[in-house]
Amino acid sequence: MKKNDNLKTGLLLAATVSLSFLGFLQPSQAGSPEAIEAGKKEFRDNCAVCHGMDGKGTGPLATLLEKGVPDLTLIAKWNSGTFPTTEVMEIIDGRVAVAGHGGQEMPVWGMAFREEGGSKLAKDRILNLTLYLESILAK
Ligand code: HEC
Repeated sequence: MKKNDNLKTGLLLAATVSLSFLGFLQPSQAGSPEAIEAGKKEFRDNCAVCHGMDGKGTGPLATLLEKGVPDLTLIAKWNSGTFPTTEVMEIIDGRVAVAGHGGQEMPVWGMAFREEGGSKLAKDRILNLTLYLESILAK
């Protein structure tokens, strides 16, 4: 009997903890200033070395890469004026090869993010990065 009660308390505790954890990790509202700001930080930490903070491809590592680094502010222009959200997310994720994009010199972020925090968090980070890229597009 006692054992069972302990188990119940344990389960309840586990549920409460994971619920508050999920709440903590709640994705920022899509397209909101918070999401873009989170994406900006993420971009600064993981992408700016190659792409440059402004996304124009002039980060300190860019000169070392054979093919050069593309100007990410032009993504919409390459795509007849529309920002291809899903495609950009897939390119950043890196597991799905997108024809003509993200060659071997572009790291596979999906894998790294998933290892750090699981697939839900990885998706949010990729989405925030994508929203940040959308916010810095050349006019
Ligand atoms: C080690 C340098 C490096 C880092 C770090 C890097 N990239 Fe890239 N990225 C590249 C290169 C090089 C390409 C071009 C690859 C190609 O087309 O062959 C590229 C391509 C891309 C493209 C596709 C552009 C197109 O052709 O449409 C996107 C989007 C992108 N990167 C986003 C990111 C994001 C977001 C991050 C950070 C999470 C990041 N990159 C980090 C080097 C890098």
